[in-house]
Amino acid sequence: MEYRVLGKTGIEVSCVGLGCWPMAGMAGGANWSGIDDDESIATIQHAESLGINLLDTANGYGAGHSEQIIGRALQGRRDRYVIATKVAPRSEDPVEPVQQYIARNCEGSLERLRTDYIDIYQLHGEPDEAGMPAIVEALTRLVEAGKIRCFGISTYETGIMEALMSLGNLSMAQIGYSIVNPVGQPGLEFAETHNLGTLIRVPLAQGALTGKYFDSLSRLDTKDRRHERFDNPRIRSALKKLSELAFLAESGKRTMVQAALRFVLDTPGVTSVIPGAKDRAQLEENAGADGVPPLTGDERARARAIGGAANWPLPPYTSWT
Ligand SMILES: NC(=O)c1ccc[n+]([C@@H]2O[C@H](COP(=O)([O-])OP(=O)(O)OC[C@H]3O[C@@H](n4cnc5c(N)ncnc54)[C@H](OP(=O)(O)O)[C@@H]3O)[C@@H](O)[C@H]2O)c1
Repeated sequence: MEYRVLGKTGIEVSCVGLGCWPMAGMAGGANWSGIDDDESIATIQHAESLGINLLDTANGYGAGHSEQIIGRALQGRRDRYVIATKVAPRSEDPVEPVQQYIARNCEGSLERLRTDYIDIYQLHGEPDEAGMPAIVEALTRLVEAGKIRCFGISTYETGIMEALMSLGNLSMAQIGYSIVNPVGQPGLEFAETHNLGTLIRVPLAQGALTGKYFDSLSRLDTKDRRHERFDNPRIRSALKKLSELAFLAESGKRTMVQAALRFVLDTPGVTSVIPGAKDRAQLEENAGADGVPPLTGDERARARAIGGAANWPLPPYTSWT
């Protein structure tokens, strides 16, 4: 497994990480079907033997369930993992000062994760401009108190990254980017220029780029969060177009999943890709992306052209990429 340093932090992360949103399962309206908590715990523990040290979660995933699963899985092995979690950039309570809100939510995450520090603490979306100084101050205090090692933000907006950098030590950004989603490109270029670390979310377009839904959505549980999104003419037609990506796996040297992850890994500005995985078999295949042949220039261009022609729903029109 290749390890890359996250921006200026000195934190070394595996280039393939593990996105733990699906491990929220059906809890708190997360609605990821087919999740078994014991298998989730085994998957997180198996990551270590595959060289994967990076886990991404959020306090909101399954109302804390994803963090709780990580906390259970990492008993006695905390120091061998890098935990990235998130907090929404504003309080639900208009009266609560934002510093207090962030400190309180950090304590909640620490408790669920059963740890005394978070490696990477990310704002889960964009704060209002007026609230930024107080938020950065709160995050800086958490660094000084040793509760978090660094902080960053999940956003596509380079203007927001720049504004936060001017207020304090923003270390990283979480950005969406994949064969179907070029929206993160400016963010990656910005991150490369300013030596910000990046974690790349939704690299498999929530499973659409795995290949298993190209011909049919019948494998998708009707209770799954993606069922309503995918079961419509636009997505069916997109999946049909995306089936042309099968050429990426024709050599037998990489699977469709690994080609999609490799596409991301070889993009300048990318530190680590964080595909969600539901079990050990998926995790093993994802970890294998580290060792497969990179896409050639022609393959990348053809993949991008197919991804673009698929007309996949993208931000700012969707909030799930
Ligand atoms: N705003 C934010 O900050 C934000 C937003 C979204 C995501 N994220 C983070 O990014 C991570 C990744 O995004 P994501 O989980 O939404 O989507 P994703 O990584 O694009 O897709 C994950 C899904 O693809 C399928 N899959 C994964 N590996 C597979 C394999 N080897 N073979 C077959 N199927 C496989 C699984 O679902 P099925 O098997 O059911 O198809 C899995 O749940 C999240 O887990 C989360 O940590 C952050």
